[in-house]
Amino acid sequence: MDKYLINGGKVLSGEIEISGSKNASLPLLFASILSDEKITINNVPDLKDIQTCCSLLEVLGVSVIREGSTIHLCGKELNSYEAPYELVSTMRASVLVMGPLLARIGKAKVSLPGGCSLGARPINLHLDFFRTLGAKVNLIHGYVEIECGNMNGTDYHFDQKTVTGTMNALFLAVLTPGTTIMHNCALEPEVVELCLLLKSMGANIRGEGSETIIVQGVSILHGTEYRVIPDRIECGTIMIAAAITYGKIRLKSCNPKHMTALMRKLITAGVDIEYDHEGRTISIDAKNKYNGTSISTQPYPGFPTDLQAQYMALMSLANGTTIITENIFENRFMHVSELKRMGANLIIQGNTVVVTGVEYLSGAKVMATDIRAGAGLILAALRAKGETEISRIYHVERGYEHIEKKLSSLGASIRRVIE
Ligand code: EPU
Repeated sequence: MDKYLINGGKVLSGEIEISGSKNASLPLLFASILSDEKITINNVPDLKDIQTCCSLLEVLGVSVIREGSTIHLCGKELNSYEAPYELVSTMRASVLVMGPLLARIGKAKVSLPGGCSLGARPINLHLDFFRTLGAKVNLIHGYVEIECGNMNGTDYHFDQKTVTGTMNALFLAVLTPGTTIMHNCALEPEVVELCLLLKSMGANIRGEGSETIIVQGVSILHGTEYRVIPDRIECGTIMIAAAITYGKIRLKSCNPKHMTALMRKLITAGVDIEYDHEGRTISIDAKNKYNGTSISTQPYPGFPTDLQAQYMALMSLANGTTIITENIFENRFMHVSELKRMGANLIIQGNTVVVTGVEYLSGAKVMATDIRAGAGLILAALRAKGETEISRIYHVERGYEHIEKKLSSLGASIRRVIE
């Protein structure tokens, strides 16, 4: 299995471009199912999850042509409504085909995703929404089979905020007759982007970015061209890389507005940050040791769960004690035991981790368990004394575009070793 070998202690400096967002790209690509006209998506990152998404679209009959960071799609020859186990099991976000398939052809058969390293991650709210609009849902041989009945827009309240649940609901509502009013929607920028793409295809949506989204169904959607927003999690990961190595980095092609929660915490911890909304840059200057600053993960605009592991790596070297609370996923502390192997002082108490800052971490053999846990280990390794060997890096490569090249360009000693 391929590995990263990282020699810690280098101060990172320089400029870096942030890639397009993985979690914004996926729903935009799946939107191609909704129309028989051409859709072009620009600024799509080169990642394993994007390849899986394109393979799934091809299985369904959507034509997919990739030209660098642009993907051209056409759903004219859509000829299947089944998302097979082999693809769904490698990427849970494959459930995002459900809404578009139901909207376009009234049927979907999708392998039910099991639990993952973050927890059980049910999709009951997606299914509940489909049922409320009039669909019939059955679970047979590990597959969810959904069939549209007499569909009509209605009022729906999500019991809990869900990012992909809100997206699946939008996909179905845009082509369902009548008005659908959705309450307690997710506010994440990736949801807003999906709304904007759908509107550019002819959908009638109001309230995107607020908790209540109102959709007036239309009968047909058209082709469009759309550019993916910068990846706020890659951006946050690089910001933390600057802080943990006492480095000085200028991040370009990013959106500072999406980074507020992390910026507030880093500034409180003692890191110098400047940003320019118009120029779309963030500059981090981290000369000094920083202070422990507690966080609690929340849906957007709160502190993102997808930066919790990376932030924990940072706080494991801070002055004093930090409390890290995870509120989104029940099992998102798999990185704790790996960071402890590197010398971090971490105690798990329910959904919190008490972090007592240590003077140094030391390189060790560790294992990535999911995309963001792997990123947290990379950050710890950048500051650790000696060499760290990170295995199972296929997790990291699902979500970070050429991360070893990007970090090397900033002065990190990181090599990708093929075994
Ligand atoms: N939930 C339910 N029932 C549902 C749906 C969600 O109980 O039907 C629960 C989940 O178990 C979780 C909480 O609600 O406890 C929030 O989950 P959500 O549905 O918002 O997560 P998601 O849509 O499956 C997306 C991102 C994740 C990110 C979360 C939270 C994509 C493809 N995935 O997942 O990204 O952590 O939102 O922000 O957009 C990653 O990129 O590494 C990643 C895991």
